[in-house]
Amino acid sequence: MDNVTQPPVNLVLLGSTGSIGRQTLDVVRAMPERFRLLGLAAGRNLDALESQAGEFRPTYLWAASDDERRLAQIARDSGASVLSMDEMAADPDGDVLVVGTAGRAGLEPTLTSLERGGAVALANKEVVVMAGQLVRDAVDRGGGQLRPVDSEHSAIWQCLWGEDGHEIRRILLTASGGALRHLPAHELADVSPEQALDHPTWNMGDKITIDSATLMNKGMETIEAKWLFDVPYERVEIVQHAESIVHSLVEFGDGSVKAQLGYPDMKLPIQLALSYPQRLQPTVEPLDLASVGTLNFSRPDLDRYPCLKLAQQAGRAGGTYPAVMAAADEVAVEAFLERRIRFTEIAEYVNQAMDAHRNTADPDIDAIDAADAWARGFTTGRIAAAV
Ligand SMILES: NC(=O)c1ccc[n+]([C@@H]2O[C@H](COP(=O)([O-])OP(=O)(O)OC[C@H]3O[C@@H](n4cnc5c(N)ncnc54)[C@H](OP(=O)(O)O)[C@@H]3O)[C@@H](O)[C@H]2O)c1
Repeated sequence: MDNVTQPPVNLVLLGSTGSIGRQTLDVVRAMPERFRLLGLAAGRNLDALESQAGEFRPTYLWAASDDERRLAQIARDSGASVLSMDEMAADPDGDVLVVGTAGRAGLEPTLTSLERGGAVALANKEVVVMAGQLVRDAVDRGGGQLRPVDSEHSAIWQCLWGEDGHEIRRILLTASGGALRHLPAHELADVSPEQALDHPTWNMGDKITIDSATLMNKGMETIEAKWLFDVPYERVEIVQHAESIVHSLVEFGDGSVKAQLGYPDMKLPIQLALSYPQRLQPTVEPLDLASVGTLNFSRPDLDRYPCLKLAQQAGRAGGTYPAVMAAADEVAVEAFLERRIRFTEIAEYVNQAMDAHRNTADPDIDAIDAADAWARGFTTGRIAAAV
């Protein structure tokens, strides 16, 4: 463990009111001498933002809410200025940009920070799924650093430390299987949002929890792994692992396999992404393997999880397919949560959007946004026509 004599790390936290955002604040609370919050940005939850601003007194804040007057009031009350997320990302005083937003929201700030050589603690996986090549290009141009927050990618990242130049034969992404893993396939069509949200090991936001039940989340993580670690898709495999203790593994050229383990608690990968290259005092329970007892691994049944296959297809096809897949999934998951479509229809609507899409190779942001908007409109229209 490293000592604490260094100046605090200045953090800009996007998505502060969400699951990742709140857990990031828990880490900051546990080590106030190590971290200082320079900026906070939220979506629509101004009550939560107000209370966070009062507690952490950031230099600037922002929210996507339409209630600009209230946002200005919150800023005045906490002594902060209102600054856009992109402006926050551009501030050279920010040491680490934590991207805990969901969906497309974190794309520009991520690119901005990487272009100026900043460090980005990236949880918002859709950013890499939609725009992996743009993110890589920004790293190459600006020399910024991507620090994965997703537990699987944090595990892979850690397995790769000190392994520069060594061949990666395989990346093994572990998957819990989500809330419905024990349900017979013929009962999946009738599951309720409450059943699908009842994740056995992780406590996360609603969208990612449904994506875990469909394994869309694992499909997106395959794409994320390709871009973060520069490995071809053929070398990324999924292993079902019910206990979520082994967060992922890397097999090297000599057949050695390294893994990273811990209880399922996002505070550990978040903390590491904030403090890298240091490892600080633990804010999570120490792993007691003897009390865990048995760890189970199996191959996922791809027929049961069509979203996983769709995401893998989108990743391999490249271009604007991943953006279309992610946008259609977002619309379909929302419709499922609002009980407008069945659980099994999520994959069907994503499939329809991908089938109807005309791909653009090597897309820029405008092409990605156009594909995203097209997929949202297409999927919304299809769902409305069916209900
Ligand atoms: N939760 C986890 O444990 C976990 C684990 C691994 C990876 N991830 C990934 O991390 C990301 C966040 O997940 P989450 O579970 O934390 O989601 P979440 O609980 O839904 O939080 C999303 C956050 O983004 C904010 N937001 C939404 N739209 C915005 C916009 N247009 N501009 C600015 N902020 C906006 C929300 O604000 P309001 O709430 O104020 O509207 C909220 O703070 C996702 O990409 C997810 O896949 C999450």
